[in-house]
Amino acid sequence: MSPDLRGVMRNFATGVCVATTYSDQADGRHHDAVTVNSLTSVSLDPPLVSLCLRLDSAFLADLLATKKWAVSILDSRARDVAGALARDRASRSRAMDTLAASPGANTGALVLDSASWLECVLWDSFDAGDHTIAIGEVVAVDERRYGPALVFLHGRYRSLDGAGVVPR
Ligand SMILES: Cc1cc2nc3c(=O)[nH]c(=O)nc-3n(C[C@H](O)[C@H](O)[C@H](O)COP(=O)(O)O)c2cc1C
Repeated sequence: MSPDLRGVMRNFATGVCVATTYSDQADGRHHDAVTVNSLTSVSLDPPLVSLCLRLDSAFLADLLATKKWAVSILDSRARDVAGALARDRASRSRAMDTLAASPGANTGALVLDSASWLECVLWDSFDAGDHTIAIGEVVAVDERRYGPALVFLHGRYRSLDGAGVVPR
């Protein structure tokens, strides 16, 4: 029997992020942005984080080519942004036209105006099953804290504020 990995991981609450990268083509720079919840802190020295992206992802192909990306950590006001950027590339491109974002100074990848973010340069990558683990060295961060966190749990977006602290 194959394990129901999706089923069990639905119980694991994660934050929700937007990863951004781009490709430079003859007609200019094309940005792309996707919703991800696989952001993991890997190492503090050097500062490393990872993302797991589907092997056949067009976004992954751009990321591995530029070797640069950014990750914006969403708060609950960005639920609609998360939904719009979890779609196919053409839909994402239309959604990005209305996105409040600007190129990060260190990578050129877009960082969302209303989110805390980190900029990354490719440190290494490994294929693992049907995904690639992309490990990035963090070259810049914005560590401001914004509104209640956007959390993905049981297949739905949820809002988590400080009131959720469990007493000892
Ligand atoms: C909450 C949420 C988290 C997601 N996390 C990831 C992720 O970590 N890695 C991934 O490859 N796709 C993830 N996805 C799916 C991508 O957002 C979506 O499939 C996107 O269209 C992939 O881009 P592509 O066209 O380059 O394949 C997630 C979707 C949602 C709704």
